[in-house]
Amino acid sequence: MLKEVIATRYITPLREGGSLPGLVEADDLGTYVMKFTGAGQGRKTLVAEVVCGELARRLGLRVPGLVTIDLDPVMGLGEPDQEVQELLKSSGGLNLGMDFLSRAIGFDSLAFDVSPEEAGRIVWFDALVNNVDRSWRNPNMLVRSGDLWLIDHGATMIWHHHWPGAGASAAKPYDVSDHALAPFGPDIASAAAELAPLVTEELLAEVTAEIPEEWLADEPGFDSTDALRRAYAQPLLARATVIHERIKGIEGDK
Ligand SMILES: Nc1ncnc2c1ncn2[C@@H]1O[C@H](COP(=O)(O)OP(=O)(O)OP(=O)(O)O)[C@@H](O)[C@H]1O
Ligand SMILES: [Mg+2]
Repeated sequence: MLKEVIATRYITPLREGGSLPGLVEADDLGTYVMKFTGAGQGRKTLVAEVVCGELARRLGLRVPGLVTIDLDPVMGLGEPDQEVQELLKSSGGLNLGMDFLSRAIGFDSLAFDVSPEEAGRIVWFDALVNNVDRSWRNPNMLVRSGDLWLIDHGATMIWHHHWPGAGASAAKPYDVSDHALAPFGPDIASAAAELAPLVTEELLAEVTAEIPEEWLADEPGFDSTDALRRAYAQPLLARATVIHERIKGIEGDK
C-alpha cells in the first residue's frame, strides 16, 4: 500500500502539465505534485503512474516517491481560478501525489549527457510499458544534482484502455525514433539482459498490489479488482522477455 496523506493546502498549479497537476502540502508536512482523479484524463492515468512508477523504482530507475493524497473537495471553494476550483471540487477522495523534487530542472539533451547504459535502461523500460510520452519534444525527465529522474507515466500501457484487445495491442513493437534518449546510443541489449529477469510474476504482483482499490472498482469485464490487477501484470510479464527484439527506430535500423 502506498503511504496515504491528507492534503492541507493547495499551493499552486504547475502550469506546464497538460492535466493541470498542482503543488500541494499535506499533513505530514511534505510537498507533493498532485495529480487529480477529477482531471480529464481520468483515473487510468493515475493507475498507470502507480504501476510504472513502482515498477521503475524496483528496477533501480530513479522516480519520485509516490503517495496517495486524500482531498476534501471543500478545499476548492477558496480557489480564485475557476479551472483549479472545478478540478479540486471533482477530485474528492484519493488522488496521486509524488515527492516534489525541488531545484530540479527539465532534461535538455543539448545540456546533459547520458551514458549508453543509463539510456538503454530507460529506453528498455519505456518499451516495456509502451511509454509514448518521453519524446524530445516532451522528455518528462528532470535533472537534479546531475541525476536523471523519470516523471509522468500517465501515457503508458495503452492496452488498459481496451482490455479485450490487450493481448494484440501488447504484442506490437515499440518505436523509439522520437525518444528523448535515442541520440545517446542506448545499450538496449545490456539493459534487457539486466532488467528482463527481474520482471517476474512475483514482482508484478507486488507492484500491482500498490494500486488503490477504488481506482480499479467497477471495470467492465472484470469480476474482481484482483482479476484486474492480474490483467495489468500479464502484458508486462509477456513483453519483458521479448520487447528488446521489438524496438524499432534505433539509428541504423530501417
Ligand atoms: N516530482 C516532481 N518534482 C518537481 N517537478 C515536477 C514533478 N513532477 C512534475 N513536475 C513538473 O510539472 C510538470 C508537469 O508534470 P507532468 O509532466 O507529470 O504532468 P502532465 O499533466 O502529465 O503533463 P503532460 O501530459 O503535459 O506532459 C513537469 O514538466 C515538471 O516541470
Ligand atoms: Mg509531462
